[in-house]
Amino acid sequence: MKDFAGKVAFITGGASGLGLGLAKVFAEAGCKVVIADIRQDAIDEALAYFRGKNAAVHGIVLDITDRAAYARAADEVEKVFGEPPQLLFNNAGVNTFGPTEKSTYEDWDWLMGVDFWGVVNGIQTFLPRMIAADKGGYIVNTSSLGGFQGSQGAAIYSAAKAAVNNLSESYALALKPYGIGVTVVCPANIKSNIAEATRTRPAHLQNTGYLVNDETIASLHSIHIHGMEPVDLAGHIKTAIEAEQLYCIPYPEAKGGLEAHFQSIVEAVPGEETDPEGVKQRTEALKNWAQSRTRMFAAANEDAKR
Ligand code: NAI
Repeated sequence: MKDFAGKVAFITGGASGLGLGLAKVFAEAGCKVVIADIRQDAIDEALAYFRGKNAAVHGIVLDITDRAAYARAADEVEKVFGEPPQLLFNNAGVNTFGPTEKSTYEDWDWLMGVDFWGVVNGIQTFLPRMIAADKGGYIVNTSSLGGFQGSQGAAIYSAAKAAVNNLSESYALALKPYGIGVTVVCPANIKSNIAEATRTRPAHLQNTGYLVNDETIASLHSIHIHGMEPVDLAGHIKTAIEAEQLYCIPYPEAKGGLEAHFQSIVEAVPGEETDPEGVKQRTEALKNWAQSRTRMFAAANEDAKR
């Protein structure tokens, strides 16, 4: 996608950090922008920024874990801007850190709820509407470098982001025939307010196995203050959309770590074939299976069109 003028862009977590950066960059590019965020006060502040700037920006209070509210938000977008978004940014995310083995079900439910299910809910809500509108479009999912590797202190966050990376790859393949592109952004550090994320943790999911207090929040702030400027990262994302690039990782400092990680995985595969006949049979079986699945999907799609 190269032309953004007049297109509707729906941005979750759009009132702060990267989401607000995306709102600024895509409003500047001529998009009609919807800022969807769980915090009304942050939306009000973001909308105040755009006032008098000749930008079409609409705010919707939305908890992306609430599917019924998500459907209502989608209806609101169509009412306000006359059509579903052509650009969907599944960007809202939260984090909290602590010893993996101390994680509670509530830690799992909150982090997976926002960081994984929030992305799924965005896709499930809007994709049928985007396909029905038949105008193509673009989906951008915000993941993290943490999605490539497990960690001792961010197990749930990393697992959620790993799932977002993986589902983005699947959707990129599946949505090509509809003219809908997919990019997954894997940031390292962003100059954002994510250190405050625990402040929006819902009351029924407060039970945590981690230490969270003003001091731990301040220590997180001291890292994020040195992160990439949100508008700069949003600019890289715009370039990735224009190039229809699946992964957007505009952090040169990430290269060495990624290389070492994937090399360690590649090294787990034996270089020598000990059972050439077995390898041949397994490969043949996989190829046949893939071909029959492709035929089956094509037939199912033809049936659906009738
Ligand atoms: P941020 O905290 O500045 O912005 C996130 C926004 O999401 C906030 O305005 C918050 O109110 C909103 N939000 C939280 N829960 C929500 C919910 N249930 N429904 C709707 N909105 C909700 O944080 P930041 O850093 O801009 O985060 C954006 C994305 O970037 C997230 O997915 C995060 O995981 C990811 N990321 C951030 C990194 C960083 O260093 N800050 C690094 C890697 C990834």
